[in-house]
Amino acid sequence: MSLKVVILAAGQGTRMRSQLPKVLHQLAGKPLLQWVLDTAARIHPVETLVVCGYGSEQVQQAFAHLDVTWIEQIEQLGTGHALQRVLSQLRDHDRILVLLGDTPLITDNTLMQLIDNTTANQVGIVTANVDDPSGLGRILRDHNHNVISIIEAKDADANQQAITEINTGIMLLPVRPLKKWLQQLQPHNVQGEYYLTDVIALAVVDGVAIKTVQPLFKEEVIGVNDRQQLARLERLYQALMAKELMLDGVTLHDPARFDVRGELDVGEDVTFDVNVIIAGKVTIGGSSAIGANVMLKNVTIGKNVTILPNCVIEGSVIGDDCTIGPFARLRPGTRLANEVKVGNFVETKQATLGESSKLPHLSYIGDAEVGKRVNIGAGVITCNYDGVEKHKTNIGDNVFIGSDSQLIAPVAIGKGAYIGAGSSISKDAPAGKLTVARGRQKTVGHWAPKQRKK
Ligand code: UD1
Ligand code: CA
Repeated sequence: MSLKVVILAAGQGTRMRSQLPKVLHQLAGKPLLQWVLDTAARIHPVETLVVCGYGSEQVQQAFAHLDVTWIEQIEQLGTGHALQRVLSQLRDHDRILVLLGDTPLITDNTLMQLIDNTTANQVGIVTANVDDPSGLGRILRDHNHNVISIIEAKDADANQQAITEINTGIMLLPVRPLKKWLQQLQPHNVQGEYYLTDVIALAVVDGVAIKTVQPLFKEEVIGVNDRQQLARLERLYQALMAKELMLDGVTLHDPARFDVRGELDVGEDVTFDVNVIIAGKVTIGGSSAIGANVMLKNVTIGKNVTILPNCVIEGSVIGDDCTIGPFARLRPGTRLANEVKVGNFVETKQATLGESSKLPHLSYIGDAEVGKRVNIGAGVITCNYDGVEKHKTNIGDNVFIGSDSQLIAPVAIGKGAYIGAGSSISKDAPAGKLTVARGRQKTVGHWAPKQRKK
């Protein structure tokens, strides 16, 4: 018997009021459907099928790189109807785990519990006891506490509305009887839809036991139907992330003003001031301090690094004991060795800076290889682009570049060279010597008096 995952993701998400299909809206920087697909992959099903409908082209395109079987549900007549569309792809001896594209935080832990607690011929449901069950399907049980059916919120009477155990929508079903139950569905309900939830009562009639498990965290089973719910779930998720980090020895000046939209790996005693955004894969070594309003995306940062406020750092590797910012922008391909200083209003791109080099103010350094202990004065610019192609600048160890110089690439500055301030360097400068490339200063005696007379 093999396990297949079916993810229901065909709905438009009318309540989102959006052109974008609901499952492409993002939670913590990742589309809702991606969350579910990632979790599904962790339980190693033999196949993952996704039912798509509204915006199906867009949805399939977004996940074209994944090994997924797409099933089109042209008209969305309900969750039961969605599963009917999948049946031809399923064999009688399969069992299917149904996940919802709009319930992103379900964990593989809970899913494994469901799988372990439900035998091949039983039906399993993830249910939850919640404070506010409004809008959700309620679990009806008999006096022996056995599940007998699920009633949708819109069809529930006052007594049923009072039930706080809800259907999360996540179910484990044996295919052979499911085929029969799905055929028996009728859209006789307030919404006129074919409800998957109606198969529960049909299973009970057939004497099939209904098993339930509850998730470890309440956040796991929260579905997203509108933007308020999405924002609320985002805050709940970020609060969880913040809590985990603090337990791992990280200081957050305000856990409510900290966002992880990706993966963060941190050493001990790292501190974050307010409004830091982490995106992609970020690693930060112990005792580093990240200032206020910093954006880090796909960055590796060493130990004891200080990032001052208002920096945007992407696709970069930063060594130990560096100081960056305030107001620095490190673009992809930036590599800083240890003890490098990058100051305010500096932009780097595809640039390597050797140990103890300093780039303190107002520079653009792109497509450059900079040695050790180099001092780059204020306002120095590598002119790396000639309008057609990019060219490289090479700067040897112990070089001093005077302020406001332009290095017109391709160009190389030899070890220990000095470049006079205000130079436009278009030819290689030799090692160990002073090179100056600017007009000589002269004073013209008769010009000013003449000018004044006019
Ligand atoms: C559903 C459940 C409800 C449960 C809740 C949990 C049913 C009838 N109701 O309600 O018991 O408490 O989830 O969040 O199952 N979809 C399709 N095709 C369709 C209709 C829906 O693929 O024709 C997909 C949607 O894209 C969505 C998921 O199924 O990802 C759930 O649909 P939605 O309309 O959000 O159901 P709820 O009203 O939330
Ligand atoms: Ca829903």
